[in-house]
Amino acid sequence: MKNSGKKKLSTEPYKGVRDFYPEDMFIQNYIANTMREVVEKYGYAEYSSSILEPAELYEGKTSEEIVNEQTYTFTDRGDRRVTLRPEMTPSVARLVAARKRELAFPLRWYSVPNVFRYERPQRGRLREHWQLNCDIFGVAGIEAEIEIISLAANIMRALGAKDTEYEIRINNRKSLNKLLNEFSVSEEQKKEFLRLLDKRDKIENFDEKAKDILGSEISLDFDIDAETKNIIEELKARNVKNVVFSPTLVRGFDYYTGTVFEVFDLAPGNNRSLFGGGRYDNLLDIFGMENIPAVGFGMGDVTIKDFLETHALLPEYAPNTDLYIATVGPEHIADAQELADKLREQGINVAVNMLDKKIGDQIKTAAKQAIPFLIAVGEDEAKTKNYIIKNLNSGKEIKTKEEEIADKIWSENV
Ligand code: HAM
Repeated sequence: MKNSGKKKLSTEPYKGVRDFYPEDMFIQNYIANTMREVVEKYGYAEYSSSILEPAELYEGKTSEEIVNEQTYTFTDRGDRRVTLRPEMTPSVARLVAARKRELAFPLRWYSVPNVFRYERPQRGRLREHWQLNCDIFGVAGIEAEIEIISLAANIMRALGAKDTEYEIRINNRKSLNKLLNEFSVSEEQKKEFLRLLDKRDKIENFDEKAKDILGSEISLDFDIDAETKNIIEELKARNVKNVVFSPTLVRGFDYYTGTVFEVFDLAPGNNRSLFGGGRYDNLLDIFGMENIPAVGFGMGDVTIKDFLETHALLPEYAPNTDLYIATVGPEHIADAQELADKLREQGINVAVNMLDKKIGDQIKTAAKQAIPFLIAVGEDEAKTKNYIIKNLNSGKEIKTKEEEIADKIWSENV
């Protein structure tokens, strides 16, 4: 089809979002599957919901910066204002609120949604990312924090991270609120100060701006509170020792009510926040419900992938296809298909050549797709049902009967 004179469409994805080619999908699945394995070990059940939410869900109680500057909001054909979810917490709170009476608490839930934020794309920040959300509902005591933080640490370990490579910073919003109560300022000004503190590392003249909001200078080197101290000690007892008290840690959302924590990469080249979470005991308020205490975190795929890259922990690509069946002449494609069907029944993932191409080119195709094994079907093979399995990584070849192909591939005995 000709496109004469018309502007050519770009093959680039929309700004700040990613395409996932099979090699990227492999990493993406590796990260998500590792997260799933660990959270399921702790008894967390998976839930999901739509990307689309009514815009009001975010306007009450989450984060002004996200609502005013970072949401993708539009009006649908029925005049409803709709938002692409910028995070999962209001959605999960909605799900819990809707079935509060039927659900059995404590509730341990997880999800791996994609979420959208209109941000300036940069390292670690994109406009679409996937985020493990792991939350426990119905536990008011610090057992919830201890479980959630040790679970987070165990995901890092399952991804291959050493405890010395990252640090878990922890603080309590109650300490910050107590400190702010010493200033005669409005609730709005307190929130404004917390938002400023959240950005402290990114802005200049923090002290001056803080003074503008609060009317006088503020000192942030307050002592550790008893709750945070206990959490750190209990975590140590459970072999999570890289937790440090961090009095300036706030986190951006208004809904946090107690513990807040954030996991930081300690590598000089990637010294940044990887993920975080905290306690939010009042979020069911927005649905006019009696509150349920909750603790959880959001762990993003972008920052985790950067971490794995920085620490040389990314696995090497391997496709799900085990075997490529090449054909010596197109007249053997039917034989190859028949063999493929038999092997598929035994659980081998097989791709079959379907073009009239030279055998050398077929081998190149399979090797380029990183498929580990290849069998060529020609006159002899069709007749004798004896085959040669070629290991495309080592170049090694072995002769085998049809009945033994699956075993040889399973045991990688080629
Ligand atoms: P958050 O800190 O906004 O918290 O996001 C959690 C994590 O998602 C971040 O630490 C980061 O790993 C990733 N993330 C956030 N924004 C971006 C972005 N623009 N690009 C790439 N990655 C990003 C929350 O969303 C809370 N709802 C988490 C939570 C769950 N708290 C309690 N339960």
